[in-house]
Amino acid sequence: MAKEIEALLAGLSKPQKSIAPKYLYDETGSGLFEEITTLPEYYLTSTELGIMDSHIDEIAATVGPQASLIEFGSGSSVKTRMLLQHLDKLAAYVPVDISEEHLLESQRNIRAAFPHIEVLPVVADFTRRFSLPAPATMPLRNIVYFPGSTIGNFEYDDAVELLRVMHQEAGDGGALLIGVDLQKDPAVIHDAYNDSAGVTARFNLNMLRHLNREFGSDFNLESFRHKATYDSDEGRVVIELVSTQQQAVHLGGTTILLDEGEAILTEYSHKYTLESFAAMADVAGFTVSKVWTDPNQWFSVQLLLRD
Ligand code: AVJ
Repeated sequence: MAKEIEALLAGLSKPQKSIAPKYLYDETGSGLFEEITTLPEYYLTSTELGIMDSHIDEIAATVGPQASLIEFGSGSSVKTRMLLQHLDKLAAYVPVDISEEHLLESQRNIRAAFPHIEVLPVVADFTRRFSLPAPATMPLRNIVYFPGSTIGNFEYDDAVELLRVMHQEAGDGGALLIGVDLQKDPAVIHDAYNDSAGVTARFNLNMLRHLNREFGSDFNLESFRHKATYDSDEGRVVIELVSTQQQAVHLGGTTILLDEGEAILTEYSHKYTLESFAAMADVAGFTVSKVWTDPNQWFSVQLLLRD
């Protein structure tokens, strides 16, 4: 049986059923996520952008000249463009993504807008170590860039492991520039994942349509509902698909039984305090050097240096 179906079935066979968040991002899902980033309740993207906009000169000065910018993810976001525009004499831009298609598109866009910057895309699963291409211009340092608080998708051990990969890729004298969402009024967080237009619900449910198409499963989207709750003790949003009835679903020759009200975990979105994030970064060998934030302290952009 295909490895992917095996992994899916493993997640759906445990007492707490789960589906990996990567299945949120088929073409429809990526489009819906783009839509989420423009919702009034989804403060993350606009707040991070505001922070970058207010502090871009200081960020660029802190990074220094002739760096190589290594983005974990295919990039081409407004934030990435802001960095490409402001970083001094950039040696290269290296987007790293598992999807060759996404990389090629981002490469095309970046090359068109910044013809003088060497773009060296890397097709890789960035949760594991990979080798970096050598730019024509010798970089003075590597800056790993990981925006959007995507780190929040990972549970503690996996987040530390990912930070360790970034530490390795940054190399001697390197640094990590990372977007980190912060703990705040639970109502604000709750609304960000329960938007009134229902886009987040469609985004979450679309995962089942994606699995049906790609793996021939028979999830009935009508018999699941979106649920997102903020657990302030754990500091994370728990995003689930709840079965609205007792039902059987078939995937890869296996039958999965769901009770009425049973939840499938689809995503975590961890929220940090400045202290909890610094402690986690420390375990991975990083020291927080700078923290830029918005007036409400809702979100942060942080520069981490290798110890
Ligand atoms: C892309 C992981 C940062 O956790 O806020 C948004 C994904 N899920 N709404 C987040 C997401 C539901 C998002 N990240």
